[in-house]
Amino acid sequence: MPRREARSVTGSEQVGPYTLLRLERGGLDPGVPGQFFMLSPPGRLLPRPMSLCLAPRGELAFLIDPIGSGTRALAALATGDRVTVFGPLGKGFRLDLERPLIVGGGIGVAPFPYVSEQLGGPPAVLGFRTAHHAEAAALLPGADVVLDPTYVTEALPARHDVLACGPEPMLEAVRALEPTAQLAWEAPMACGYGACYGCVVEIDGALRRLCVEGPVLEAAA
Ligand SMILES: Cc1cc2nc3c(=O)[nH]c(=O)nc-3n(C[C@H](O)[C@H](O)[C@H](O)COP(=O)(O)OP(=O)(O)OC[C@H]3O[C@@H](n4cnc5c(N)ncnc54)[C@H](O)[C@@H]3O)c2cc1C
Ligand code: FES
Repeated sequence: MPRREARSVTGSEQVGPYTLLRLERGGLDPGVPGQFFMLSPPGRLLPRPMSLCLAPRGELAFLIDPIGSGTRALAALATGDRVTVFGPLGKGFRLDLERPLIVGGGIGVAPFPYVSEQLGGPPAVLGFRTAHHAEAAALLPGADVVLDPTYVTEALPARHDVLACGPEPMLEAVRALEPTAQLAWEAPMACGYGACYGCVVEIDGALRRLCVEGPVLEAAA
């Protein structure tokens, strides 16, 4: 069940250009891999959606790409700071798979350390813009890594149950190759629980709230 709680920061580490923000877990349920939490950056009106990256004992950890004011404020949090967390929210990945394969692009690597732990370390292919960004591959030991201009879709082994997260063009390319893939999409989200309709996307020809129906959707949807 989702809960809203103020939690303390237990640590913050640089992983290439990203920040791994660790929070005390308290009574929060880590949920299913691929679900997300709304984190409230200090001084900002709206919370920001973040996938759970890792769930070590007593903690919840989030990998943050500081692309704007909210994510920069979250990345600047220090040990002992308090932050309001709400979740877990949305629909995560189905994990009842015969031959799982993780496919991540850029900050799309974020949900996969937790996915990998739950699946016992399946194969993974990760793509990054630069070697600096690819430092985040250390969160998924054993993953195959490609750098631009090589795309992850050029490195996909055949006949796997793909779980993918990354930029929209990457997800569209994965969808074209693997119609049974599960894809984690993004949309701007203000509430995260179906109230504001800020995250509406077209699914199966109908307008739906990604925070409720997703963020993980079947590629064929
Ligand atoms: C379900 C879900 C899970 C996410 N998980 C992570 C995660 O684990 N780590 C992470 O770093 N980020 C994640 N994101 C993206 C993150 O929420 C946004 O980058 C963040 O909200 C941007 O806030 P900001 O104030 O820093 O940037 P803003 O100043 O709000 O935006 C900066 C730029 O990014 C664009 N933008 C903002 N949010 C989105 C979005 N959701 N989709 C597309 N474009 C956007 C804006 O239009 C603007 O151009 C996730 C998003 C969703 C929906
Ligand atoms: S974020 Fe408010 S309805 Fe989806």
